[in-house]
Amino acid sequence: MGYREIALEKALTFIEPGPVVLITTFDGKKNNVMTISWIMPIDFDGHFVIASGPWNYSFKTLLKTKECVVCIPAQDMLQTTVRIGDVSGADCDKFSRFALQPLPAKTVKAPLIAGCQACLECKVTDVISRYGFVVLQAKRLVRDKNKALGRLWHAVGDGTFTLDGKKSNCRRLMKDKLPPGL
Ligand SMILES: Cc1cc2nc3c(=O)[nH]c(=O)nc-3n(C[C@H](O)[C@H](O)[C@H](O)COP(=O)(O)O)c2cc1C
Repeated sequence: MGYREIALEKALTFIEPGPVVLITTFDGKKNNVMTISWIMPIDFDGHFVIASGPWNYSFKTLLKTKECVVCIPAQDMLQTTVRIGDVSGADCDKFSRFALQPLPAKTVKAPLIAGCQACLECKVTDVISRYGFVVLQAKRLVRDKNKALGRLWHAVGDGTFTLDGKKSNCRRLMKDKLPPGL
């Protein structure tokens, strides 16, 4: 019984947010896509924050174009999603390398990716450089009408992933906290 101290580096494996998403950008010449697991909603007006940095080509494009699409991968896309996060669009065309089909978005130039569960077209509203925080606001949300919404992948932070599990409905307990539409 009782607590035992463990390596502080493991802290993030207890609090990794999620889900793991794909973020597409268009730099004016080619489409690109990166994997992000550090993503968190911050209000009910469609704002959320991702944590990234200048070592990613997508980060530079995000700062330049101020827009992107956040794609929620289908359940069977985990391997591709991890591979996408292992190479840079600075060196290759990830859409052709991973046989991704780009589809036009309506409010941004970055593409949707065919076959994802849902895609959020987003504008960059703020950047907090010290931590590489990019604040996004969703402008349009689409979901694949032929696909049932599946479970979502979450990164543990140590190279392993969990799939969302059992759902519990506590809507009645927190009805005062839920804005209209949710
Ligand atoms: C599972 C997974 C999660 C990742 N999460 C993040 C993240 O939250 N933030 C980040 O900056 N990079 C993250 N990465 C790394 C980027 O996806 C990776 O550096 C990518 O190659 C960047 O591509 P780009 O240079 O074409 O933008 C993650 C990679 C993987 C495989």
